[in-house]
Amino acid sequence: MKIAPEIRRLNSPGPISDAFLRSRAFVKIIIGPVGSGKTMTALRALRQVGQKQGGAMNPNGVYVRKARVGVIRETYPNIEKNTLPSWFDIHPQSEGRFTFKAPFTHKLTLILGLDPKTGKPNDICEFEVEFRAIGDRSVEEACRGWQVVAVMVDEADLQPPELLAFLSGRVGRGGIDTSLMVDPQIILSLNAPYIDNWVYGLAIEKNIGEIVDQKLLDALGDRELLEVFIQPGGREPVAENLHNLPAGYYDIQAALNKHRPDYVARMIDNKFVPMQHGQPVNPQFDYQEHVRKLEWDPSRQLTIGLDQGLNAAGAFTQRTPESGLRTLREAVMLREDGSLAKVGARAFGQLLRFTINEHFPELRPHMVRVVADPAAWSASDNEDTQRDWVRMVKKEIGLPIAKARTNKPALRNGAIWQAMDMRGGYAIDESCKHLIRGHLGGYRYMKANMSDGEKRGHLRIADTAYTHICDAEQYAAMEGDSIISDLRGLPRIQPGMMQNDSDFDVFGGV
Ligand SMILES: Nc1ncnc2c1ncn2[C@@H]1O[C@H](COP(=O)(O)OP(=O)(O)O)[C@@H](O)[C@H]1O
Ligand SMILES: [Mg+2]
Repeated sequence: MKIAPEIRRLNSPGPISDAFLRSRAFVKIIIGPVGSGKTMTALRALRQVGQKQGGAMNPNGVYVRKARVGVIRETYPNIEKNTLPSWFDIHPQSEGRFTFKAPFTHKLTLILGLDPKTGKPNDICEFEVEFRAIGDRSVEEACRGWQVVAVMVDEADLQPPELLAFLSGRVGRGGIDTSLMVDPQIILSLNAPYIDNWVYGLAIEKNIGEIVDQKLLDALGDRELLEVFIQPGGREPVAENLHNLPAGYYDIQAALNKHRPDYVARMIDNKFVPMQHGQPVNPQFDYQEHVRKLEWDPSRQLTIGLDQGLNAAGAFTQRTPESGLRTLREAVMLREDGSLAKVGARAFGQLLRFTINEHFPELRPHMVRVVADPAAWSASDNEDTQRDWVRMVKKEIGLPIAKARTNKPALRNGAIWQAMDMRGGYAIDESCKHLIRGHLGGYRYMKANMSDGEKRGHLRIADTAYTHICDAEQYAAMEGDSIISDLRGLPRIQPGMMQNDSDFDVFGGV
């Protein structure tokens, strides 16, 4: 077995991070600007919990501890892109055994002590960390079978509010040998939350009602239930982790984001601000970077996404060889004043056919795939009219129409975010005026309705003139190879060919 060495290369980001690392509270939270070392520090904290678990002496006189811990985020691409790199800074992928199959697991043997005479390890921890995404599942489904002594929630404000109550009922409870368990912990890291986010209520207002029960209080002993560590803003003289960041890091970011004051307030200055009515759903969209003239590549599949109904819209897209998303044309019926017109199925089908003839001449059926909102097929009161919609559009365009993969918002938006987050991953032709306006903020979140107690874990998207074309683009975007499986964290290879090389049974116990 490969033995993982102690942490190297890491230094202290600053006093708040250090205090956070030392905290034994059942729930501990670190809030700070982007780049302040939160993810890394929270992962180190997670690793520390593992190291202090009790164990037993083996026949060779080595004290062996066992610990299983978890990390949770919204999607697997975000785990891969944002959380794993920090983890690999602590323990490279080559150490121990890392399983690159969702949920990702990393098994390591951590050396905690050496025999002074022989120089051989005499205190080790069999450590396993599992990275899970919530994706489009409920918290309960995502955490099924989790028996862990600690969980780290990265970007906690982006996770659903019920997560914490759920985890507090699981972490360090049931199934684990509690006699050897030391200080089970829930570790949250995030940027300054909006004041109407659930983490603001928890961390700042200390609304802890829903996580406390008598059993938990009894188990706490001398520990605090909740401790919150707020780092200085990135432009303050005492900002943390500056020595691990490039010079001018925060000033440059503040300059680049001048047009988004609430972003600067939260992400750079670590200030709590209200969520403004109408935040764009795709804030990564940047006119300069993403809008240009695009050419159709007839050697690659054209994918047309359709949103059905009286405000039907169509988006014509392709994937580049590097799997970037290119949106070439849109089909929407606009009035003279630029607003969205209502359109019947036949007229919409004709608009699609016209767009195809005009912009994609000599398109053959094998070069194109048309997908529409699966709701267009689902049984409902207006079943007949909806089915008619598909049938009539099909007839007008002379092409089959397939159901889009899903209409779950997390996955649909995820497919677009994944493209926009990737360097060169997204571009849209300047002719797609309606869709561009959507990305610039026409497609936006609803104002939080706090009066009826609604929480803001998963934000709802406002129903505007722009939702239809944005939906259409999303249906098309989900068609790429492995797009959906990546977002859901499913293996890319076919099940029959796959070897399950993990002996970790998510439904079983330890
Ligand atoms: N203790 C540390 N020692 C050395 N480098 C660190 C340490 N903590 C963070 N870093 C580096 O600082 C950068 C930002 O850290 P990260 O944890 O991603 O910040 P955040 O999650 O707050 O945005 C990363 O490049 C990371 O490798
Ligand atoms: Mg981070």
